[in-house]
Amino acid sequence: MSEEKNRILKISILRFDPNDPEDFPHMQTFEIEEAHGMTLFIALNEIREHHDNSLKFDFVCRAGICGSCSMLVNGTPTLACKTLTSKLGVNISLAPLPLFKLIGDLSVYTGQWMRYLNQHLETWIHNREKELNVDKLEERMEPELADEIYELERCIECGCCVAGCGTIQMRQEFIGAVGLNKVARYHLDPRDKRSDEEYYNLIGNEDGVFGCMSLLGCEDVCPKSLPLQVKIAYLRRMMIKTSMK
Ligand code: SF4
Ligand code: SF4
Ligand code: FES
Repeated sequence: MSEEKNRILKISILRFDPNDPEDFPHMQTFEIEEAHGMTLFIALNEIREHHDNSLKFDFVCRAGICGSCSMLVNGTPTLACKTLTSKLGVNISLAPLPLFKLIGDLSVYTGQWMRYLNQHLETWIHNREKELNVDKLEERMEPELADEIYELERCIECGCCVAGCGTIQMRQEFIGAVGLNKVARYHLDPRDKRSDEEYYNLIGNEDGVFGCMSLLGCEDVCPKSLPLQVKIAYLRRMMIKTSMK
């Protein structure tokens, strides 16, 4: 009885160390034997362990919740730890997410961009209370509303929607779907006392909701399947209403 052979994967990786003046971007292909249940996380570790220990890539949780392993897999932004090699052909290309600062090879610094975004949008509850009162009872919230907020809170800041957004390619000040999702989250929250006018000042412009081309590359690639399309449309309606007040 003949045993079925495992596939040999040809994994081509865009290599580049921006800190090495001698280096230049180039593709390097590694051949590895596929194992049962192999993810790109396992494949990359195999490459680093057995072929080239200088390969740079990021992983923390390996469970699709930290957002650090996002990269272009065959040109599509996605999480490498959630990607089974069995879902791909034998020729696989990997490249770092565009737009973010490159650390080296597949490793990018998404935190810098996300920090700017969070500071710019002030992504925290603005309750207007002058003094912190620790004895005050927590405000009640209807479970349906809490669920709706939680749904948007599931964003892991992986940057896939940023990498898949045509508008950000042209204008890097655009806050992208991740930013619009955050605004929708705080706008829903009754503890945030910012007025619609204040939100308008934040996102009622070309770098905010009016810059979005609505082609929905973001929703197609979001690994957490966030309802980005619905929320962008909602924010746009809200901004138009506010501008006509
Ligand atoms: S729908 Fe808007 S935010 Fe989403 S990818 Fe297109 S331009 Fe970017
Ligand atoms: S909205 Fe989706 S794709 Fe964008 S950063 Fe959050 S989880 Fe990632
Ligand atoms: S390693 Fe955390 S999302 Fe992939």
